[in-house]
Amino acid sequence: MDNNAITENGKALAIMAHDLKAPLAAIVSILGVINKGYVTDMVKAKELVKRASQRAETLISIVDDILDYTLLSDKSMMKREMVDLVEILEESISTLKPYADDRSISIVRGRELGVEKWINGNYTFLLRAFNNIVMNAIKYNKKDGKITIDCSEDKEKNTFIVTVTDTGIGIPKDDLGKVFKIFERGRHARRNINGSLGLGLSLVKQIIEDHYGNIEVTSTLGVGTTITVTLPLFKEGGTNES
Ligand SMILES: Nc1ncnc2c1ncn2[C@@H]1O[C@H](COP(=O)(O)OP(=O)(O)OP(=O)(O)O)[C@@H](O)[C@H]1O
Ligand SMILES: [Mg+2]
Repeated sequence: MDNNAITENGKALAIMAHDLKAPLAAIVSILGVINKGYVTDMVKAKELVKRASQRAETLISIVDDILDYTLLSDKSMMKREMVDLVEILEESISTLKPYADDRSISIVRGRELGVEKWINGNYTFLLRAFNNIVMNAIKYNKKDGKITIDCSEDKEKNTFIVTVTDTGIGIPKDDLGKVFKIFERGRHARRNINGSLGLGLSLVKQIIEDHYGNIEVTSTLGVGTTITVTLPLFKEGGTNES
């Protein structure tokens, strides 16, 4: 490992440690208040426990990001086989539907879902990528919002195009160029959501590019965001590179 890589890893570790410390400190301080017997009212105690468990959930989501980051730094983990992109999208939708339901956000499937689309890729990494995209569409959505997951095939180019469109807060023009950069969090998002690292989309981009694909974002502030992923489909006798 060269010195630059060590410095970059050190920076990443420092940011992650910092992000882990804030929710942990909050949990310790809440538990301290309860432990010292300062809270006698059950309603107040329940409220404090609820706050502590929200911080614990934040910790889990940060640890998930760190696991993704670690896994991706070891490319040998990315074993390839024939995988069905539609199955991956369906699994992503069913995993994240409870989070969407919690916020009264509906997920609508577009065309092509239901027909198998094969790619020479890694199921786990592609699933992580789509989970990150759909999770963002939930996190940065509005209450009673909508997410549309649409797919189409470009037969000429032999590619599969997935679009995830939300009716959320949108991304300011100035931030659009930064969303795929590591540890960049939109100023807009920072005001609204706590407990994210800004790692998600940079990992997604890396996964999609490792599958010879491409990812783009378009957004209108206050109206919503569309993420478009294009991936080359399996070609008999081909290399799966477009
Ligand atoms: N669907 C979306 N709508 C609005 N803003 C978005 C959306 N997706 C991403 N963003 C913006 O892009 C930034 C980077 O996204 P990314 O997924 O990389 O990080 P994150 O969601 O902040 O944290 P993490 O994914 O690591 O938990 C977000 O902080 C947010 O500002
Ligand atoms: Mg994210």
